[in-house]
Amino acid sequence: MSKLVVLVSGGGSNLQAILDAVANKTISAQVVAVIADRDCYGLERARQAGIPAYLVDRKLHRSDLSEQIAQLIPLDCDLIVLAGFLSILNAKFIQSWSNKIINIHPSLLPKHGGAGMWGLKVHQAALDAGDSESGCTVHYVSEEVDGGAIIAQHLVAIAEDDTAERLQHKVLHFEHQLLVAVVAKLLA
Ligand code: GRF
Repeated sequence: MSKLVVLVSGGGSNLQAILDAVANKTISAQVVAVIADRDCYGLERARQAGIPAYLVDRKLHRSDLSEQIAQLIPLDCDLIVLAGFLSILNAKFIQSWSNKIINIHPSLLPKHGGAGMWGLKVHQAALDAGDSESGCTVHYVSEEVDGGAIIAQHLVAIAEDDTAERLQHKVLHFEHQLLVAVVAKLLA
């Protein structure tokens, strides 16, 4: 059975999509740990599912934070999923899990990505740019924030009256589907 570790910082709806997909066997894997860099509802979702949930301190220096997280991940882990994880991991961590860390981002990368681009800011940027479509991207994690190789994207049309909140809501729905599909495929 493949082993998954999921890193979260927020509501954890993408984590929940993974947990549901594991439960209904769309994803053939075991979530062995959920790690959060702040107290968040994602941790609560993990606890409710009976999965070991760990809290690390996002205020630590990047290398210490990365080291603490590394110590919580079993060496035989098959995939690390950044599902709304906001801290930036250091080069040593990323290199030691080369091609085994993926991230989900709520835009059509390379548009509207990079450090500081998260939450409503991403959707507002798509609206401000006058884009007619947005979407979500799952990509491998490299040392460049949101810059790793793209694995899959899902397009979402932007309506004229969309607000950042409404676009976020629309995109999030497809994030859940895209992330589950990619995780299932990578572990198959
Ligand atoms: C998602 O939009 C994800 O793309 C981004 O952060 C958000 C996390 O949402 N990286 P949730 O915590 O999974 O509900």
